[in-house]
Amino acid sequence: MSLDFLGNLERTHLCGDLRAADAGKQVVLMGWVNRRRDHGNLIFLDLRDRSGIAQIVLDAEICPEGHKKGEQVRPEYVVAAIGKVRRRAADAINPKMPTGEIEIEATELRVLNDARLAPFSPAEEAIQNEEVRLKHRYVDLRRAEMQRNFRLRHEITLAIRDDLSQQGFLEIETPILTKSTPEGARDFLVPSRVHPGEFYALPQSPQIFKQILMISGFDRYFQIARCFRDEDLRADRQLEFTQVDLEMSFPRQETVFGVVEQFLKAGFAAAGVDLPAPFPRISYDESLRQYGTDKPDLRLPGLVDVRPAFRDEDLAKLQIDPALPVVAFRIPGVGELSRKEREDNHPLFDIKKGAKFIDDFKRLAKGFPDQAAKVRELAAAAEEDFVLIVAGDPAHPVKASDTKFPGRLSEREINVYAAAGNFRSELAKKYAERHGAFRLTDEVVQKAAARNPGEALLDGSRAFHPIWLTDFPMFEYDLAAAKWVPAHHPFTAPIEADMPNLVSDPASVRANCYDLAMNGLELGSGSIRIHRKDVQQQIFASLGITDEEARARFGFFLDALDYGTPPHGGIALGLDRIVMLLAGAPSLREVIAFPKTAKAIDLMADAPTPVSEQQLKELHLRVALKS
Ligand code: AMO
Repeated sequence: MSLDFLGNLERTHLCGDLRAADAGKQVVLMGWVNRRRDHGNLIFLDLRDRSGIAQIVLDAEICPEGHKKGEQVRPEYVVAAIGKVRRRAADAINPKMPTGEIEIEATELRVLNDARLAPFSPAEEAIQNEEVRLKHRYVDLRRAEMQRNFRLRHEITLAIRDDLSQQGFLEIETPILTKSTPEGARDFLVPSRVHPGEFYALPQSPQIFKQILMISGFDRYFQIARCFRDEDLRADRQLEFTQVDLEMSFPRQETVFGVVEQFLKAGFAAAGVDLPAPFPRISYDESLRQYGTDKPDLRLPGLVDVRPAFRDEDLAKLQIDPALPVVAFRIPGVGELSRKEREDNHPLFDIKKGAKFIDDFKRLAKGFPDQAAKVRELAAAAEEDFVLIVAGDPAHPVKASDTKFPGRLSEREINVYAAAGNFRSELAKKYAERHGAFRLTDEVVQKAAARNPGEALLDGSRAFHPIWLTDFPMFEYDLAAAKWVPAHHPFTAPIEADMPNLVSDPASVRANCYDLAMNGLELGSGSIRIHRKDVQQQIFASLGITDEEARARFGFFLDALDYGTPPHGGIALGLDRIVMLLAGAPSLREVIAFPKTAKAIDLMADAPTPVSEQQLKELHLRVALKS
């Protein structure tokens, strides 16, 4: 069909903003045809722009030309509609649409562009095939849900930025073409044309630069910083992602916590969520004991010590190691599971850890009625709660070195907690699906509320439970390399009281660092840094990093440390993860406009791709691929 020019037509309103009070107004709307219904003399177009949808009526009597064009327009054509807002007849009111009380009686329609038929329509709510969505991302992003997610992202970012500025932080950009950073993932490298054989690295984080900004006297820095890490992708991991990154001079841990609590509160408020502060705190060891993980999900009850329910001879009969923890957890409202359900769950349990589980309470209660009752009592389990016990398996003692967690809990103890924690979160995820993202039925919610008003699970997908984790071990034992490696980047300061043990007992040294977890996700991570060169050298020495190695990797930074470095510390929060949580999205891909697939591909832009011989030559590169 022939297309019209925009001419000097100006849009007067956004589609989604019109209400009954606008009846009688002359309007010009512009957007995409979401749906079209042809009733002969009357054609209805649902016109969509970023604000929502308004119904345009093309009446053959009132607007014969527009009606004629209306016969030919198809979904996703771009049109301008000129006309008058009128109230709909009572029987035509659509209470589901914000603009459902009105429609626009068109007097003119301009068709500004046509559109090829996409493999799916933005009018569809759920599109199953994600590859198709990502390939045609421009169409996908038109969907109301995606428009909402990016609006949300904008509002949250704006609020955080504004709050940090009010807290005295200065936004400073740091380089993208830089040197390798010490976050532990693989770098993305960029070959230099002018320096043959040399490479820049994309920053895994602005870590070193933000520390240098403290040496430079900026006192409080922040950045909404793009970071790049060549690591395996998951639902909560992308190759490039955004951090709310900050650093400050002269802080204690609590100072950093206060800053974060305030800006996060502001960010969540922008999404309509009240986040009570201060957030609770838990030590790493305690988190392992209570949740079996360093990313606790407080929406569900944690692990409970049920060892007191059993005598040693009970444990012997049950073939449970009496020297290891015996813990239980409950999942509210799931009820007793059928045998088939239990068996389906078993592959979720990682038996390699030297832990075992008991999930058949009926059977347990036959042999050990008092003990089973006591377990349920200790776990505060109601009748409709599913309870599972995890304990040490004497038949599968783990090798002492079978874990990378060192620390004050024994490795075998940690294995029992970790196995319980994994199983708990796997089952929670599974039953969360059944309940719709932790959203329980009203009945279950009411029962749980009556029993325990503090029950964390109550508010379904709108429940957000931040928690600070502190007192992490400073080092991890790297089995392959047979040496202690930093559990964090090597600029993390040890807790001052533990410094004397740096060399003699590395496992006991705690790092002056902290994580922020929320709903089972690591949201942020930071530390108080080493600001003294002698301590930095000691840490390198305890890690077996030679002076030459240290100089080659971080020489410029070590030099900078010499020029009057204030005590400093900071943190970075994953902005994409914050938005994902608030959007209730299952993956970062829902809140990043142009994400990569799990196979690290940009399906729309078709990246990565081979480059021309000429480009390779300019960069002094040759590709050595075995065909
Ligand atoms: P860390 O490496 O823990 O710390 O990163 C901080 C936060 O960034 C987010 N994040 C990611 N989000 C999406 N995709 C990824 N691949 C990804 N990797 C990390 C997480 C994480 O908690 N320089 C330190 C911070 C500091 O010490 O100040 C750092 O980068 O939410």
